[in-house]
Amino acid sequence: MTNPPLPRHVAIIMDGNGRWAKQHKIRIALGHRQGVETLRAIIRESSDLGIEALSLYAFSTENWRRSPDEVEALMGLLLEFFTSEIDELDQKNVCIRILGDKEGMPEKQREALYNAEARTGKNTGLKLNIALNYGGRAELVRAARILAEKAVRGEIRPDEIDEAALADALYTKGLPDVDLLIRTSGEMRLSNFLLFQCAYAEFEFPETLWPDFSLEDYHKALETFASRDRRFGGRKA
Ligand code: IPE
Ligand code: IPE
Ligand code: MG
Repeated sequence: MTNPPLPRHVAIIMDGNGRWAKQHKIRIALGHRQGVETLRAIIRESSDLGIEALSLYAFSTENWRRSPDEVEALMGLLLEFFTSEIDELDQKNVCIRILGDKEGMPEKQREALYNAEARTGKNTGLKLNIALNYGGRAELVRAARILAEKAVRGEIRPDEIDEAALADALYTKGLPDVDLLIRTSGEMRLSNFLLFQCAYAEFEFPETLWPDFSLEDYHKALETFASRDRRFGGRKA
C-alpha cells in the first residue's frame, strides 16, 4: 500500500491509446476501449485510497481535429462509460464534475453528462472530474469573462479580483490545487490541461502507455510523490 502523504488532488493526462493500438496492430478505437478499462481501475483505486480529488483528461478542445471516425468512437465510448458506470460510481459516493464546455458536446453525451452531475452532485466521496471538450486557455478566457460580467453588474470591483476570485471562476471552483500530475506514454507536456491549477504540481511522466498503466504503476507514482520535497518557493529548515 501507498505511504502517506497522499496527494489531495491527482490529475492524469491519459495518453498513449493510439500507440497501444498500433503496437497491437488493432484499430485505434480498440486502443481507446482498452484505455477505458484502465480508467475504471484507476477511479476505483483512487476512491478506495481516499484521494480527495481526481481529474482525468479525456478529450481536449484540440481533439476535435482527429478523424471523424476516431471522434465518433470516443463519443460512443463516453456514452457507454456514463451509462454503465453511473450506478457503481453513485454507490461508491463519487461526486462527478465535468470540466469543459458541455454545450459543445453532442446532444446525447451532453444529457448523460448533466445527468451524471445532477445524480452524484451531493455525494461526499471522491471528487471525480472528467475533462471533456476542455482546454486550459479556454477555461481562463471563460473565467475572465465571468469576472468582467460581474464587474459590469457592479458585483465585484476590479481591485477585488485576486487569485481566489479567479480560482472561483474556473471549472475547478472549490477544489484544492493539483498536487500530482501524471502523464502516461512518455510525453512531457501539459497539452493545455489545468494550466492555472498545476502552478505548484509535482510532475510524473511514466513511459507506460495508458492501456497498460497498472495499479502498481499508479502506486509507484504516488510513492514517488510522497518522497518529493515541496517547497512552494520557501526554504525548509
Ligand atoms: C489519449 O490517447 C486519448 C485521447 C486523446 C482521447 P491518444 O489517442 O492521444 O494516444 P496516442 O498519443 O496517439 O498514442
Ligand atoms: C492530451 O493528449 C489530451 C488527452 C489525453 C485527452 P493528446 O494526445 O491529444 O496531446 P498531444 O496532441 O500529444 O499534445
Ligand atoms: Mg496522444
